[in-house]
Amino acid sequence: MQKPLRSQSWFGRKGKDGLIYRSWMKSQGIPDYEFNKPVIGICNTWSELTPCNSHFRELAESVKRGISEAGGFPVEFPVMSLGETLIKPTAMLYRNLASMDVEESIRANPMDGVVLLCGCDKTTSSLVMGACSVNIPTIVVSGGPMLTGNYKGKKISISDVWRYSEEMRGGKIEQEELRSIEAAMCRSRGHCGVMGTASSMACMIESLGLSLPGNAAIPAADARRKVLAQLSGLRIVEMVKEDLKPSAILTKKAFENAIITNAAIGGSTNFIIHLLAIAGRIGVDLSLPDFDRLSSNVPLVSNIQPSGSYFMEDLYYAGGLPAVLKELDALLHHDCITVNGKTMKENYDQAACYDRDVIATTAKPFNEATGLAVLKGNICENGAVIKPSAATPALMQHTGKAVVFDTIEDYKNRIDDPGLEIDENSVMVLKNVGPRGYPGMPEVGNMGLPKKILDKGIKDMVRISDGRMSGTGFGTVVLHVSPEAALGGNFSVIQNNDLITLDVAGRSLHLHVSDEELAKRKEQWKPLKGITERGYVSLYVNHVEQAHLGADLDFLKGASGSEVLRDSH
Ligand code: FES
Repeated sequence: MQKPLRSQSWFGRKGKDGLIYRSWMKSQGIPDYEFNKPVIGICNTWSELTPCNSHFRELAESVKRGISEAGGFPVEFPVMSLGETLIKPTAMLYRNLASMDVEESIRANPMDGVVLLCGCDKTTSSLVMGACSVNIPTIVVSGGPMLTGNYKGKKISISDVWRYSEEMRGGKIEQEELRSIEAAMCRSRGHCGVMGTASSMACMIESLGLSLPGNAAIPAADARRKVLAQLSGLRIVEMVKEDLKPSAILTKKAFENAIITNAAIGGSTNFIIHLLAIAGRIGVDLSLPDFDRLSSNVPLVSNIQPSGSYFMEDLYYAGGLPAVLKELDALLHHDCITVNGKTMKENYDQAACYDRDVIATTAKPFNEATGLAVLKGNICENGAVIKPSAATPALMQHTGKAVVFDTIEDYKNRIDDPGLEIDENSVMVLKNVGPRGYPGMPEVGNMGLPKKILDKGIKDMVRISDGRMSGTGFGTVVLHVSPEAALGGNFSVIQNNDLITLDVAGRSLHLHVSDEELAKRKEQWKPLKGITERGYVSLYVNHVEQAHLGADLDFLKGASGSEVLRDSH
């Protein structure tokens, strides 16, 4: 027998309470019969300050059509939107805050199911984290990638930001030309059109089974994106009837499928932090070593920038994520249930690849083993990560002298100082850009090289930090060092000229300084002055966990379910 609808404890009431719950809703022109239907929330991160999600009001209309068609009652509601490019000091600082907004908005309101409209990086992780902590039937509709940029007849994308900015620093292009390039680069609605964090997150959603098949890659500007939104609206009403909740979909096996998929697509390092945080909310035991164990032998089968040459648009035309998943058949768990009620394998079994330059077979991949590597060593006792597919092979085993920048401001002030003692064999170390230290763990880990090194034609050096890197970035960049510098561990006391060895094959990151000397340095170590003592930032700094745990707030881990605490009316 079907469970009574959660929304009926608002709209099904008699007397004064029911009158209040329904009457104010009726001010919007809603007929009485709607209040007996499953109420489906559409959690909208639309904002003109989040350009990647600026088409979401239109997308929400398609979702509503599907919900109404299936006999549901759609209600759209806004939550905090996090636009990666504009928010200062970094969108990551607010991911956990937005997740609280989502969680409390869902629980506090009469919803039987929810459709999450996700796009720009943190608008996916925060919405899924929040929804997991409530655990009512949930489906994700991603906004889709933007169309590939085109400048003077050449295809360009977000990954070119790094190349063009280095060219400008090297004096190869002028500011005026940069303004023409930027107009050509982001030429349509949608999120970044390469395998950056937003696309990695959209692929994560599909490989976890939280969206309909095909969701990850349909371009935002393609009419089929709206079709998928409408079908998702139709499906969520059925999910409510079936009581199909995230906890039934997000099993350990589903997380393992997502990790394998992320490796095969050359996905973002940010995927690790967000997946760990989602696992923490839904109560699945996932840890950093799982990423290395599951992904280190996965071949790169999608040829998308920044690890490859093509764009998300091309991935869709080549068959989309279902075609990639089909190639991974031998590696994936087949029986994970997904939002459409079918298994993962049933969803990709009929998929076909239409372009082998974009999606390869596992027998003949673009790269043999490319997953995200987890490093250990005296610099990072709790781990650090590197993306081998975006790194320079010759630097994956490297020893060099440290050149230390204590803060990102210190780096900016000194990086182009002609007197800076640095050469291409040096190891650049950037401290205090971790979750607590910055605070918020910004994407600055792929810090640009000094101009005098760029002038020699050198394009990559080993860089280490406790921060993150944009999913569109590349280079031999070690990230997410844990414990971060702000906690006073070994990483915080690295000094100029200390020798550091990076050995990706051996999964090690080692500082050639004795334990005695490190202990002496740590005794003298003092934290940087605190940034704030009030407001959300203070709450964040006091409760944020380290990167290897997903950088969630400690008190947000787990779930409170969908029960409301008190019923005041
Ligand atoms: Fe929004 Fe890249 S800036 S997805």
